Amino acid sequence: MEFPALPPHKSVQLGYNAPLQEHPTGTTMTLCTVILAAGNGKRMHSALPKVLHLLAGRPLLEHVMRAAAAVGSSHPPVIVTGYRGEDIQKHFVLTRPEPIWVTQPEQLGTAHALQTALSALPKCTTVLVLPGDVPLVSAATLKKLVSETPKDTIGLVTATLPDPTGLGRIVRDSHGHIQKIIEEKDAAREEKNITEINSGIWLFPEKYLHALLPKISQKNAQGEFYLTDIIELALAEGIAIHAIQPEHAMEVSGINTRKELARLERYYQKQQTEKLMAKGVTLLDPARTDIRGDIVTGQDVTIDINVIFEGKITIGSNVQIGPNCVLRNVIIGDNTVIRANSVIEEADIAEHCIVGPFARIRPGTRLETGSMVGNFVEIKNSHIGEGSKISHLSYVGDCEMGKQVNVGAGTITCNYDGAKKHRTHVGDGVFIGSNSALVAPLTLHRRATIGAGSVITQDAPEDALTVARAKQRTVPGWRRPEKAEKTEKHS
Ligand code: UD1
Ligand code: CA
Repeated sequence: MEFPALPPHKSVQLGYNAPLQEHPTGTTMTLCTVILAAGNGKRMHSALPKVLHLLAGRPLLEHVMRAAAAVGSSHPPVIVTGYRGEDIQKHFVLTRPEPIWVTQPEQLGTAHALQTALSALPKCTTVLVLPGDVPLVSAATLKKLVSETPKDTIGLVTATLPDPTGLGRIVRDSHGHIQKIIEEKDAAREEKNITEINSGIWLFPEKYLHALLPKISQKNAQGEFYLTDIIELALAEGIAIHAIQPEHAMEVSGINTRKELARLERYYQKQQTEKLMAKGVTLLDPARTDIRGDIVTGQDVTIDINVIFEGKITIGSNVQIGPNCVLRNVIIGDNTVIRANSVIEEADIAEHCIVGPFARIRPGTRLETGSMVGNFVEIKNSHIGEGSKISHLSYVGDCEMGKQVNVGAGTITCNYDGAKKHRTHVGDGVFIGSNSALVAPLTLHRRATIGAGSVITQDAPEDALTVARAKQRTVPGWRRPEKAEKTEKHS
């Protein structure tokens, strides 16, 4: 499945063409996934549908879609939307293969949502049901559910939480067999003491759903069709229930409030930073590093505090990143130093470069080996050749710059004429004096020297000095005006 850039990050290819799965019982199964995302998420107090809220820079629903893809469904997921469903569908319009969207016009409960999905369900033997608001369930847990649930049995993921408030509780008999799930709002006091909860993640033999779902009633505290009621109906028909637990209980945490979203974000970030450190990255404070995308690193990378990584990041070995940097869709070569407070987007920075402090590198920039970009320099859509230096206070946009160029402080490429963007070509070994304006389209040929303070509107030839500024003159004997002396006032 391929996801749209968010915000423009490179698409990711995930597949839904998994072959039939060989179940341990020897039977083959085909797996379909249904994601329930029609609720409005009242407890978020937000105009944005809950599943579009971001965790690590991605909508909750995208996390769930990725988990579904990783488990090897044979089709794209069926996604049930309702509250602002069009907005959700629009957000994922570039996702490939396209999910199968189903509308639940009224949110009458999780059982009703699943029943709505049945009409659009591709042909399959087994249905994996995922809530749209449980974003961090791992592929390993889902695979365990699929492989360990016996044939003709309903599978369920449960977890034991220190604080189960608000969740459905798993009621077991004295032999440990699951009897039912009771929602918090319907639970008696002693049932509320149960700490084993329903994650909302289910695995159903498809054939049972058509028979059992219509039997579910609305007789409960919330007047909803609860999917959880399927347990008692199944047991009454002699259908077995099999529950599995995830490796970490946190991965099946649902998000109902912004507080829970923040808590899960921290949990996710901790997992990411631990992975980075395990690969040989030094984080000066792992609690102050945020990864909102995918990052690949070499060895001996050092990352100072408050660095945010977004989208697809590739970092070589022996790279240092200073504090307060934001990097989005960036490639950084070995031995490069990014100094404090730099913002780098959609750029490719080679080995042995120095960037910052306070540099802004915008999309479409490539810095070649050993180049330097210093403080208060903005570079956009430009190619900076090997060993070239733009050390202070410059704007370089739409520029093709050769090797060993020296750009003086305050140099500006005037690339925009109000209608079109124009390119500036700077040859190898050019020296640009400070405070020069380069009015594009323009070429500065090899080893040209531009005198400081020039406004250059025509190409500058090789190996020559080009200056375009008013000549300096001195006016001898000139006197500055002087203030008249104050006389005392008499009344
Ligand atoms: C549900 C479970 C609860 C479990 C918890 C885990 C039921 C009755 N309760 O409760 O046992 O502990 O999840 O997170 O199943 N949805 C629809 N249509 C609807 C209602 C809900 O699509 O009509 C979707 C929601 O958008 C959401 C998911 O189903 O993504 C779960 O619904 P929610 O209202 O959040 O259920 P919980 O109260 O969390
Ligand atoms: Ca929920």
